[in-house]
Amino acid sequence: MRKPRILGALCAITSLGIAHAQTAEVDHAKADAEFAKFRAEMEDSNPAELFELKGEELWKVKRGPKSVSLAESCDLGLGVGKVEGAYVQMPRYFADANAVMDAERRIVWCMVEKQGFKFADIAKKPFQGANDTNPPEITSLVTFVAGHSRNMKFAVPLKDPKVKEIWEIGKEITNYRAGPYDFSCNTCHGSDGKRIRMQNLPNIGTHEGAVKGVMGWPGYRMTGGVMLTHQWRMNDCFRQQRFPEPKYASDTVTALLTYMTANANGAVYKGPGIKR
Ligand code: HEC
Repeated sequence: MRKPRILGALCAITSLGIAHAQTAEVDHAKADAEFAKFRAEMEDSNPAELFELKGEELWKVKRGPKSVSLAESCDLGLGVGKVEGAYVQMPRYFADANAVMDAERRIVWCMVEKQGFKFADIAKKPFQGANDTNPPEITSLVTFVAGHSRNMKFAVPLKDPKVKEIWEIGKEITNYRAGPYDFSCNTCHGSDGKRIRMQNLPNIGTHEGAVKGVMGWPGYRMTGGVMLTHQWRMNDCFRQQRFPEPKYASDTVTALLTYMTANANGAVYKGPGIKR
């Protein structure tokens, strides 16, 4: 049932993509409409749900050198084991780690500190690659946690001065120009109505743009048929920017996620989504 629908929509989008440049604007509008239709159709059968289920299993089972489950050891900010609403309230400050952490970073922290996994092992392959049939466990865990904030409002605790400080750093990073093309995030995402190829580039400094930038992550990406987290999105944009990719689960990525997610505060999170 699922596959033909995916293929159909992909063909529609691809054939619009190679259309003549003079009709580009019309085609963009058509492609956007096609994709919106496709996304609506897919909402009931989003492949992301399979990752949520896998993540739930991983969350509950005793694992790692210390043989404990995350459910009995990991505090995502609302109490040990509590996942309901945790995703939309992160990044937040965690006293036990003395750091502001986004969801992915926090789960990695729990896997290392509570379950005894080695960070280096998790960081070896943190994101699913193309043609990779074995997605990393961390992706499923993040998707599971995110799924338990579906239909809840983003509420990053910006009143906490430690969170606010990281928000400020995130803001600075979006303005920081460097690299061979002297690009910053804002070169591509700092004004309204920008596009590259087929992609709309959200203006992440505004509430509306930030909502677009955080909604649907983690997401099932039709290009390559892979499940990817918001951390992946950040790393990939550093690549677009011709910067060296940040280390996995770095402070820099947390700062960017703090900036964008808090800018989206108040918007209702629709859960793990579908991306082009
Ligand atoms: C050279 C231009 C460029 C730069 C610089 C850039 N991006 Fe992007 N960004 C893109 C493109 C293109 C996409 C869409 C890619 C896709 O969907 O395949 C994107 C997508 C995104 C998205 C996801 C939007 C969505 O609809 O889900 C976010 C969030 C984002 N970028 C944030 C950033 C941040 C933060 C930085 C700075 C670290 C940055 N970008 C730097 C081009 C850029």
